[in-house]
Amino acid sequence: MPSAAPAESPSERWDVHGLPRAGGKTFLVTGGNAGIGYFVAEQLAGTGASVVLGSRDPGRASAAVASIRSRVPGARVRHVRLDLADLASLKDSAEALGSDRLDAVVHNAGVKFDRPTRQETGDGHEAMFGVNHLGHFALTHWLAPLLTAAPEGRVITTGSFAATSERLDLDDLESTRDYEPERTYGRSKLAQMLFGFELDRRLKAVGSTVRSVVTHPGGALDSLTPSRPPLRVRTPGTRLRGLPAGILLQGKDAGAWSAVRAVLDPSISGGELWAPATSPSAAPHAAARSEVTWPTRRSRPACGRRAAT
Ligand SMILES: NC(=O)c1ccc[n+]([C@@H]2O[C@H](COP(=O)([O-])OP(=O)(O)OC[C@H]3O[C@@H](n4cnc5c(N)ncnc54)[C@H](OP(=O)(O)O)[C@@H]3O)[C@@H](O)[C@H]2O)c1
Repeated sequence: MPSAAPAESPSERWDVHGLPRAGGKTFLVTGGNAGIGYFVAEQLAGTGASVVLGSRDPGRASAAVASIRSRVPGARVRHVRLDLADLASLKDSAEALGSDRLDAVVHNAGVKFDRPTRQETGDGHEAMFGVNHLGHFALTHWLAPLLTAAPEGRVITTGSFAATSERLDLDDLESTRDYEPERTYGRSKLAQMLFGFELDRRLKAVGSTVRSVVTHPGGALDSLTPSRPPLRVRTPGTRLRGLPAGILLQGKDAGAWSAVRAVLDPSISGGELWAPATSPSAAPHAAARSEVTWPTRRSRPACGRRAAT
């Protein structure tokens, strides 16, 4: 059964604009070329760490690398080809890191379709389950030796509020019978989150130094996200239209904070869900509660003040 959410102590204050230095460490961010993943990579690059963007598109990845370099003086950032829809390619992606250790991987990349027609990856898996869950599951396998070689490797898995209303159909994990895009997306995120929690349990059971943490970015919209030209430019019109949503939601720069904290905060011990304090998904999820231990920590990253809980 889930343990109660531990209250944050003052020593756990977190300043998103005053991140600890992480020089000498190497972090991989899947889908680091766009959206929340881009900002996770940019913020981590600012700590002096070496950051690798995992991206399926070299052109978009190069643009993201250039953007980070233009904003973070001396940034150590590069990209490797990574296509989560192509499971057989992931071993090569792990090898392309060219590193003998990896301090953290942020499983951020994700797809969400709204078309009513079920789509499959080239491997024949339902596309959202295949990319969001199976791709990251397989990638974790290939990265395991590198994560184990780090003093305290971390696997950060990106969950979603969409998972809170779903249950896995263990007889039909890939929605062949009842495909509906919202439901199938929610199931893929639930599968990811369950994987993240169970991974931590198993790592601890074998005495591994690697930790697994699940995060939720909160609702994060492009219209509330600052420009990163030429990668993405927010027009004044888009900014104005996004203002009402800003009461409840945030930009993808702020959506990155939970994952960045999960990578860097030394007080994190694994098996937790880190989410903005305002996020309803920070509450234990009924479907998962019956299946896994679901300790919850609310990580509203404060700007120089104590995190709200
Ligand atoms: N935004 C939100 O409000 C929200 C809320 C809850 C959870 N999340 C989760 O947060 C994560 C990031 O969301 P986002 O809003 O930043 O999404 P986004 O802007 O659509 O970015 C998604 C990223 O995933 C990459 N990607 C997609 N398919 C891939 C594949 N087969 N292989 C490798 N990379 C692939 C994309 O690369 P391309 O540029 O090549 O397409 C892109 O870099 C997702 O896991 C999402 O489920 C988001």
